[in-house]
Amino acid sequence: MRVNGFTKTYDGRKVLDFPGMELESGKIYAVIGANGSGKSTFAKCLAGIIHADKKGTFFDKEYSVGYMPQKSFPFAMSVEKNIALGGTDISRRNQLMEKLQITHLAKKKANRLSGGETARMALARVFMKSFDVLILDEPTSGLDPVSRNELLEIFKHLKSKGISILFSTHIISDLEKCADEITYIRNGKLIYTGHILGFAGEQVSLEDAMVQYEKEGLHEKFADERV
Ligand SMILES: Nc1ncnc2c1ncn2[C@@H]1O[C@H](COP(=O)(O)OP(=O)(O)OP(=O)(O)O)[C@@H](O)[C@H]1O
Ligand SMILES: [Mg+2]
Repeated sequence: MRVNGFTKTYDGRKVLDFPGMELESGKIYAVIGANGSGKSTFAKCLAGIIHADKKGTFFDKEYSVGYMPQKSFPFAMSVEKNIALGGTDISRRNQLMEKLQITHLAKKKANRLSGGETARMALARVFMKSFDVLILDEPTSGLDPVSRNELLEIFKHLKSKGISILFSTHIISDLEKCADEITYIRNGKLIYTGHILGFAGEQVSLEDAMVQYEKEGLHEKFADERV
């Protein structure tokens, strides 16, 4: 499938200038980039949460898109009711709560959960629907290492069913474990999209490569500001 290019401007500043990319089914794409680089803006536009500068469709066909925001604001009602907002199939809901280990929290008020518990609930809500493309904004942030691993296993399972997953992360080990491709955004521009090896080379760790790219970006930024 093809994702068309688009831009997004906030207060007269273009925060995202995305040229478009190919998205293969059954592949996991990790979206990386520094704070404020435009990852959430990218995810929100694709998920239809906010409008890009020009209204239009992003995908070449009608796809069902699942989306989990970076910050979820749970409603002040029980966890199970919050999850049911994603879909009405009760046995699926119970299965998901079991899988995400929040069954014991079913009756608890969702606004009283811990950070990691809230993330699991938000994931359960997303997974109530089925989709072709899954867009998750920092889904592993706040999860403990065991839960992170379990979530990455869920991603691999969805991938095996042909679902495309785009997830942003600052946790490099997450993408090393499961991503097929990296999409690297810097200052709102798509700097790289492709295989992990092409990003870092063989000598350098991914994390070092990213730090290096960001430093180069800083030089460019300061050079611009001097003009
Ligand atoms: N509603 C908004 N109004 C104005 N500016 C915004 C708005 N939302 C985001 N921005 C700006 O757009 C830029 C990109 O923000 P975005 O949230 O996409 O970054 P991010 O890559 O997700 O960062 P992080 O890693 O911190 O989550 C930032 O400079 C941010 O300040
Ligand atoms: Mg973000």
